[in-house]
Amino acid sequence: MIPIKTIDRLHPTAEAFGKVILLGEHSVVYGHPAIAAGLPQGLRLTAEPLPDSAAPIELEIPAWGIDLALRPGEVHPVAMSALAVLSACKGPRSGWRVRGESSLPARAGLGSSAALTVALARLVLGPDAPVDAVIEASMVGERIFHGQPSGLDSAVAARGGVLRFVRGEPTQEIALTAPIPLLIFPSGVARSTAVEVGKVRARRERLPSIIDPVLGALGAAVESGIDAILRNDLEGLGEIMNVSHELLSALDVSAPALDHIVERARAHGAPGAKLTGAGGGGCAIALPPADPAPLLAASRAAGIHPLQVEVWR
Ligand code: PMV
Repeated sequence: MIPIKTIDRLHPTAEAFGKVILLGEHSVVYGHPAIAAGLPQGLRLTAEPLPDSAAPIELEIPAWGIDLALRPGEVHPVAMSALAVLSACKGPRSGWRVRGESSLPARAGLGSSAALTVALARLVLGPDAPVDAVIEASMVGERIFHGQPSGLDSAVAARGGVLRFVRGEPTQEIALTAPIPLLIFPSGVARSTAVEVGKVRARRERLPSIIDPVLGALGAAVESGIDAILRNDLEGLGEIMNVSHELLSALDVSAPALDHIVERARAHGAPGAKLTGAGGGGCAIALPPADPAPLLAASRAAGIHPLQVEVWR
């Protein structure tokens, strides 16, 4: 898939989607389905050659606080991951300046690492590269960030749209009949995907007869959620999101900041609200109430600045 020939230059620009998981985080690690959607404000990279072709690649993404020289042997995870992706694509490892723009927060469960690894792969392989080759290269970097990721983030970052994802199976696009409006609430609480995935694994090892049915219920919520989406039944989807949040809490991956956001959204009439992504911090999502203004105002008063998006094909 990834070219065997060395490529000595980067394309001038490359893009990748951010992502939001609607349903099925964590259970997706155990082979159950998940629904995720691409966020168009993901990442846009631009590349220009440095005067010295032997100088380390400079990677600067001001919105994410990234300003790094990609020196071989570097131990910063972003630098290690970026170099691993460039190397997997047989691309240049020196002599370029890469700058990124994003309107999404980093490290908040909105797919920033997958967006970076997908966009870097596309800088080498080009905009017309087969999507599977881009995803394969992205996964090389994602494993450095997250250990054994399911691959969901890379698939959405490369493809966009609203996808049904099962680990190891071809990704399916869900044919929406209308866009799904969504509010995304960054909690501002830092979290680690690897830590949260590890917590679920440990709880499942201690309590398999309790946790396996919870994971199965999260997977069932995905199938019911797809039915609701196909009927454009946002009330039904909202109830499934509410149940999923409680199931994720049973896996010990919610956090007080996420529970507060979810409770505030429901109290202001949101049909559904839940944590999204690994949990422990990061973001929560809600289907907006008929009049979202009071919820938006109450969130801002609490120091939470929601993003209003529509996910669509
Ligand atoms: O990194 P996040 O917050 O988008 O979470 C990833 C989703 C998990 O299901 C928790 C892990 C995975 O590899 O799918």
